[in-house]
Amino acid sequence: MFELYLDTADIHQIIRYNACLPIRGITTNPSILARANTGLSEFLPKVTEVLGEQARIHVQVVTESTDAMCNEAFNLRKLPFDIVVKIPATETGLAAIKILKSQHIPVLATAIYSAQQGFLAALCGADYLAPYVNRIDTTGASGISVVADLQALIDRHQLPGKLLPASFKNTQQVFGALKAGVSAITIPAEIANELLTHPAVQPDVDSFNQNWRAVFGQTLPFES
Ligand code: G3P
Repeated sequence: MFELYLDTADIHQIIRYNACLPIRGITTNPSILARANTGLSEFLPKVTEVLGEQARIHVQVVTESTDAMCNEAFNLRKLPFDIVVKIPATETGLAAIKILKSQHIPVLATAIYSAQQGFLAALCGADYLAPYVNRIDTTGASGISVVADLQALIDRHQLPGKLLPASFKNTQQVFGALKAGVSAITIPAEIANELLTHPAVQPDVDSFNQNWRAVFGQTLPFES
């Protein structure tokens, strides 16, 4: 089942896009929460109120040692929400992922910049893998190639980790990730807006309706 996430802590955007899209949950990172100036005690109940109890929320640790990351993860998982713990796929992060998976804690390996790095995180048992598409592009590499290569490795070795690409700045990047066969994605509100607005669409809809009204007035098709 494909999982669509919003990469935002803006509750108004979550309300807006949940009305028209099948949102599986929310991804956050420390910058996103800081930008919205919202702590989890305020944010998590609000998200659940909008998306429902089944909403999955990805929350990143902010400590750097393996022990501290694990401690954060255990405490995050005590909260009464469906939280996936985001752990950077660094050396200390991979060590934390191994420990957390031995305790059956759901983990997303984040800050993935290469297929090889993502593959190692998948081998450590990460449930989700988040390559940073636009951030990879800005290094001069290809974010979509990393996504496609990592998906191919996951498929070839039949690993359970799901790609959940993040960091999108345009709809072509989203299309590229989807074409690579990922089974989850997270998009910021601006990209959701761009995906839903093509300049040709509304003029077409207006024209169809004007043509109808020119002949039938306010009568609706089922009344005609
Ligand atoms: O959490 C990672 C991802 O959301 C980063 O996105 O737009 O800051 O590159 P961005």
